[in-house]
Amino acid sequence: MSLIAARPPMGWNSWNTFSCDIHEDMIKQVADAMVNEGYRDAGYTIVAIDDGWHSRERSADGKLVPDPKKFPSGMKAMGDYLHSKGLKFGIYSDAGTMTCAGFPGSYGYERVDAKTFADWGVDLLKYDYCFAPAGTSDVNNYRRMGQALRETGRPIIFSACWGTDGVWKWAKSAGAHMWRLTGDIFDSWESIEKVGFGDVGLEGYAGPGGWNDPDMMVIGLYGKGYVGKIGGGCNIEEYKSHFALWCILASPLLMGNDVRSAPQEIKDILLNKEAIAVNQDEEGIQGYRIPGMVDAIAKPLADGTIAVAVFNKTDTYKQSYSVPWSVLGWEVTDKVEVRDLWQHKDLGIYSHAVTVTAEPHGCAFLRLKRI
Ligand code: GLA
Repeated sequence: MSLIAARPPMGWNSWNTFSCDIHEDMIKQVADAMVNEGYRDAGYTIVAIDDGWHSRERSADGKLVPDPKKFPSGMKAMGDYLHSKGLKFGIYSDAGTMTCAGFPGSYGYERVDAKTFADWGVDLLKYDYCFAPAGTSDVNNYRRMGQALRETGRPIIFSACWGTDGVWKWAKSAGAHMWRLTGDIFDSWESIEKVGFGDVGLEGYAGPGGWNDPDMMVIGLYGKGYVGKIGGGCNIEEYKSHFALWCILASPLLMGNDVRSAPQEIKDILLNKEAIAVNQDEEGIQGYRIPGMVDAIAKPLADGTIAVAVFNKTDTYKQSYSVPWSVLGWEVTDKVEVRDLWQHKDLGIYSHAVTVTAEPHGCAFLRLKRI
C-alpha cells in the first residue's frame, strides 16, 4: 500500500461554517463548487462532513446510522457522489461514548464503525475526543481506532482531533496521519496567531505520512458561520497571513468557508498555486523559525529553493525586515533570486540578504533560489 497522507491533506470541512446544520443537498452543492470553482484541481480533494450527521441511536445491529432527514440518500450514496466528481469523502466520529455535539461515539464500536466507514467509501476519518470513559487512556483509545482502520484494508486518512499538549509525541504511533495541536480555531487574528504560531517549533514531528494540524482554516468567514460568529472576523491581510502560515508549516489545508459563494479576493488566496506548491512540496519539511528573526519562518523545498514567510504581528505599523542568507544554510556571498508569492513576480537577484515589508498582521511570502 502506498503511503497515506504523503503530503498534507487538502480539502473542505463543514464545521467552521455550518456546525451541525448540514444536509446532503448542501454537501453536494459544495462538492460541485469544489469542481466548478477550481478547488479540486488546485489540490483540495477532500469533502469532509463533521459532527451532526448521525441519528441519535445506532441500528439494531449496532451500526451508526445517518440522520434520515439530513442524509435521506444515505452515506454510501454520498461517498459515491463525491467519488464520481473526483473528490474524497471525509467523515467524523469520536473516541468516547458520544461526539462533542452529543451523537453516538465509537468507543467500544471501533471495529464495526471502521468497517461501516470503509463500506461507505470513506477516505478520511476525523476522530474527536469528547466523552471518553473515565479511566481510559487517550493513546489507547486512538490506537484502537487506528488499528481498526488499518484492518479494513482501505487507505483512510486518520485525523486525530485531541488538541492536548504533547499529542504530537504519540499520535503517529497510534496510527494518525494528522493530529490537532490545540482547542478550536475561531475567526479572529488572536486565534490564528495562537494556534498557528503555537505550531512553530514542532517541525521535528511532521513529515510525509504524519502532520501537525493547527486546525481547519477560517479564511473567508468574515465573521459569518459558526466559528465566524464566535471570532468576529478578520481582514484580508490577516487571511493572507493565515494561509501563508498554514502553507509554510506544512499544515493540512482544510477550507472552512462556504466555497459556494467565496468572493474573488478569497479565491485568490485559497487558489494561490505557488503558495500551495510550498505546502505540498514532496520533501514535506515543516518550516522552522529563522534564527535571529522574530516571526519569520523558512521551509526548505525539494528542488533546493527555500520558501520564506515574514509576519508582522504589530497592530498599527507597516514594517520592513531583512532576511539574511547566513541563517538559511547559505553563504553570505551567495547570489539569490527572489520571487514574491503574493504578486507572482520575480523581485530580482540579491546578495547577503533581502529586505521585505509587511502590513500590520500581514506577511511577505517569498521563494528564494540560489543561482
Ligand atoms: C470539537 C472539534 C471541532 C468540531 C466539533 C464538533 O470541538 O475540535 O473541530 O469537530 O468538536 O462537535
